[in-house]
Amino acid sequence: MSTVEGISETSQLVPPAGNPKIEKMNLINNVCALLYIGIISYCCFANGVSLFSFHPLFMSIGFIIFMTTAINAVTPGDFATEWMPIRLRSARHWVLQLIAITFTLAGFIIIVANKIINDKLHFVSLHGKFGLASVIFTCITSVGGIGALFSLKLKNILAPTYTKLIHAFIGLTTLCLGIFTIILGQFSPWWSFGEGSRYSGLFLVLIIMVLTNLRPSLKVYFRLKDRLGYNNN
Ligand code: HEM
Repeated sequence: MSTVEGISETSQLVPPAGNPKIEKMNLINNVCALLYIGIISYCCFANGVSLFSFHPLFMSIGFIIFMTTAINAVTPGDFATEWMPIRLRSARHWVLQLIAITFTLAGFIIIVANKIINDKLHFVSLHGKFGLASVIFTCITSVGGIGALFSLKLKNILAPTYTKLIHAFIGLTTLCLGIFTIILGQFSPWWSFGEGSRYSGLFLVLIIMVLTNLRPSLKVYFRLKDRLGYNNN
C-alpha cells in the first residue's frame, strides 16, 4: 500500500474497524434493503402469482441484496467482514456477485420470456432500455471481476491497481444503473400499489445507493489521486 507523508491511503479514507458511524451506516443499509424487498415482494404477489411476479423480485434481490452485500464485502469498515482476512473477503465478494448475476439473469430471462409469450415488443420503454444496459453492465463487471481476481497474472498488460480500479468503477456504475432501472420500474404503469409504497421504495433505494457507493467511490478517488498524483508510473 502506498503512503503519503507517512499516512497510509486507507487511513485517509477509512476509519478504523469497529467505527460506530460506519456500523450504523451498514445497519441502516441492510435494514433499508430488507424493507425494500418486503415492499417489492408484496407488490409482486398482491394480485396473485404470475411469471411476471418473479421479474421485479429477482432483479431486486440480485441488485439490492446480493450486489450491495458483495460491494460491502470489499469495502473497508464493513462490520460483517472487517475481521476477515482480505482473501476471505475477496472470496465472499465474488461468491455473492455470482449469486447476484444468477438472480439478474433469471429475472431477465423471465421478463423476455413473458414478453414473447404475450407477443409484446422488447426494450421499448425507458425502463426496458436501462434494464438491458444494466444486464449488459452486470456481465461486463463480472468479466472484469475475473480480470481483477487474476490481476497479478495480467500485470504485463495492465498494472494490478488499474485492473482493480477499472473493475471497481464499472461495478459502481452497474449498481447505479440497476437502481435507476428499479426506480423507473416503480414509475411504470404496472405500479398500482399507491403513492405511499412508490415513494417509500424510491426513498429506500436511494439511501441504499448512497450508502453502498459512498465509501467505495471515495476509495477509487483516493487510490487514483494517490497513484496519479504521487506515483507517476
Ligand atoms: C435492476 C433491476 C431491473 C432490471 C435490470 C430490469 C430489466 C428489464 C428489462 C430489460 C425489461 C424489458 C424486457 C423486454 O422488453 O423484453 C423489463 C421490463 C419490465 N420491468 Fe424490469 N428490470 C428491473 C427491475 C424491475 C422492477 C423493480 C420492476 C417493478 C417495480 C420492473 C418492472 C418491469 C415491467 C413492468 C416491465 C415490462 C414493461 C417494460 O418493458 O417496461 N422491473 N425490465
